[in-house]
Amino acid sequence: MSKEKILVTSALPYANGPIHLGHLSGAYLPADIYVRYKRLKGADIIYICGSDEHGVPITITADKEGVKPKEIIDRYHTINKEAFEKFGMSFDIYSRTSLPLHHETAKEFFLEFYNRGILKEKKSLQFYDEKVKMFLPDRYVEGTCPNCGNEEARSDECENCGALYNPSELKNPKSKITGQTPVLKETSHWFFPLGDYQSKLEKYINEMNEKYGWKENVLQYCRGWFKDGLKDRAVTRDLDWGVKVPIKNAEGKVIYVWFDAVLGYISATKELSEKSGKKNLWKEYWQNKNLPAGQAGTKYIAFIGKDNVVFHCIVFPAMLMAWNEGNNDKYVLPQNVPANEFLNFEGKKFSKSRNWGIDVIDFLKVFPVDPLRYTLAANLPETRDTDFYWKEFQLRNNSELADILGNFINRTFTFVQKNFDSKVPVNGKPEKIDKEMLKLLEASPSKISACFEKYKIKDGVFEAMDLARACNKYFNDSEPWRTIKSDREKCGTTLNICLQAIFTLAEVFSPVIPFSSEKIFGMLNSKPTGWDDCGKENLKAGHQLNKPEIIFPKIEDEMIEEQTAKLNNERPEANQALASQPAAKKDETITIDDFFKVQLKVAEIIHAEKVEKSDKLMKLKIQLDNEERQIIAGIAKHYSPEELLNKKVVVVANLKTAKLMGLESQGMVLAVEDETGKINVLTVDKSVKNGTRAK
Ligand code: MF3
Ligand code: ZN
Repeated sequence: MSKEKILVTSALPYANGPIHLGHLSGAYLPADIYVRYKRLKGADIIYICGSDEHGVPITITADKEGVKPKEIIDRYHTINKEAFEKFGMSFDIYSRTSLPLHHETAKEFFLEFYNRGILKEKKSLQFYDEKVKMFLPDRYVEGTCPNCGNEEARSDECENCGALYNPSELKNPKSKITGQTPVLKETSHWFFPLGDYQSKLEKYINEMNEKYGWKENVLQYCRGWFKDGLKDRAVTRDLDWGVKVPIKNAEGKVIYVWFDAVLGYISATKELSEKSGKKNLWKEYWQNKNLPAGQAGTKYIAFIGKDNVVFHCIVFPAMLMAWNEGNNDKYVLPQNVPANEFLNFEGKKFSKSRNWGIDVIDFLKVFPVDPLRYTLAANLPETRDTDFYWKEFQLRNNSELADILGNFINRTFTFVQKNFDSKVPVNGKPEKIDKEMLKLLEASPSKISACFEKYKIKDGVFEAMDLARACNKYFNDSEPWRTIKSDREKCGTTLNICLQAIFTLAEVFSPVIPFSSEKIFGMLNSKPTGWDDCGKENLKAGHQLNKPEIIFPKIEDEMIEEQTAKLNNERPEANQALASQPAAKKDETITIDDFFKVQLKVAEIIHAEKVEKSDKLMKLKIQLDNEERQIIAGIAKHYSPEELLNKKVVVVANLKTAKLMGLESQGMVLAVEDETGKINVLTVDKSVKNGTRAK
């Protein structure tokens, strides 16, 4: 079989602030897991990223600090590059768009389109601040939305209601630089005719979706844009920071940041070529012609967060199409764009100014990296927004990494050290249970890869942890502590298979927790074999093992409390319906008394309304026997208030009162989440009286 040739990119983060956990979950960790997995599959793959260093986000930060943009990008490029390294991101290159090589690439595309007459020049009215004598980019103007009255609307778009309008329609415009009312002044810009590409883009996306299965959330965004109809888009701005427009009479104008940033993927690959001394390497991936028979082209996968969909599924492909129509050297278009939704932090958006969230660098000063990678991976916002909770982080580490995976490794190693002199025992007497375990090991890698191939990273991670659970069960059921006395050979068989299982686990987990995987391979005194062979019996009898060490130390309550104490104190309780299920110990049992501590009662929803400014929260009034209560539930994305009214639901009636967005929540409504992420509230028959206890 020919090697798959794959190009992977992750969105280039703006170098105007530190990377936080939300960024990692969106475009970085899933891509890194995918890339690491593909490398083990033996793919010919490169992974490209870098800093996005142009545009208004950078100049705004610079203005705020009263420094030059250059200072900002140098600072955050360095900080973010290091944060990514510490987090284990395995980029082949982390480039930057301020490099001359990138400026040349962006100019080359601009000129290509300009010279072929694709770009249209148009005059338009734009806000101008007379005091500082400059045109004001969108984000430098704030005013009242003509559609919904939001007072923080931008010059041509409202983030609150999504309306697009002409700057002249914005009410009460104010310059963010001087606070003055700006004037509308004529300026001219070059526009890329996106509309001309609409039908080609629709065809392209449909075809890719049919062949490779695009994510539903991504398709929905695209359909939305197509439905509204694609319009010409300005690709220049009046700004003095960015790639200068490379034509005459364009002083004070730069190429619009998005138009240059997406080309950053190409220029970053060019930089990789230069660095590796293979001049044409970038062409092999971007303009691939000489592929092995049967392969249609490089497989290009672009990992991004949902806010970038339009640029990667529409703008960038249209630019590449336009280039390809006039050139023999043709670029590949993304085969898939597995965009993720957002990760929030303890129920709210990450916010630096409100002291809400944590940066990667700060996180890794206190905790090891793999538990973070694992927690984020197990909770990726693949189909809907998810949240990071400190408590969940602790649970994932303590009850999954430590109690399941770590425990299995540890008990196996200490047993072999004590009873078999740290050498792999002989598998002499495999019985049914042993053969079944070997079969499971052999089947696991392809089961996990089936998930990764579909960008269902979270499912793959669950499969891997399930394998570790099965390994513990095998250990328990085989009772080696008993057979070591009664049947040493049988005991050896058990431990042989446990060690083979540790090998398999170390490899299938390595894309997720690469640092720990390396340690485990060190303990095994061995190396990864490649994905397709890692479920086989890779350790020979008699093979010498190294000394075991604890791979996943527990995280104590105090360490978590220290972190939560640092947060803004309006912190919502972590245990509301918003939370994804904390990691449950699969085989832990509770007593009936434990169960009865939870008062589950039937209640009727007598009022429901959406919580203002939140897209998730619903404010419910419920009727228990003689008592009305308010519950804030994270179900607003899944139900309209009307749908909820008069439903008889089951609530946890003795839950400590919590505050969510400043509102009291006196209980919790039980709900289940199906595999598509849809939440279903548990209901009971209308005839059951309010207040009836469920048991
Ligand atoms: N800098 C953008 C952001 O952080 C992403 C740019 S992705 C690229 O949202 F493709 F344009 F580079
Ligand atoms: Zn609005």
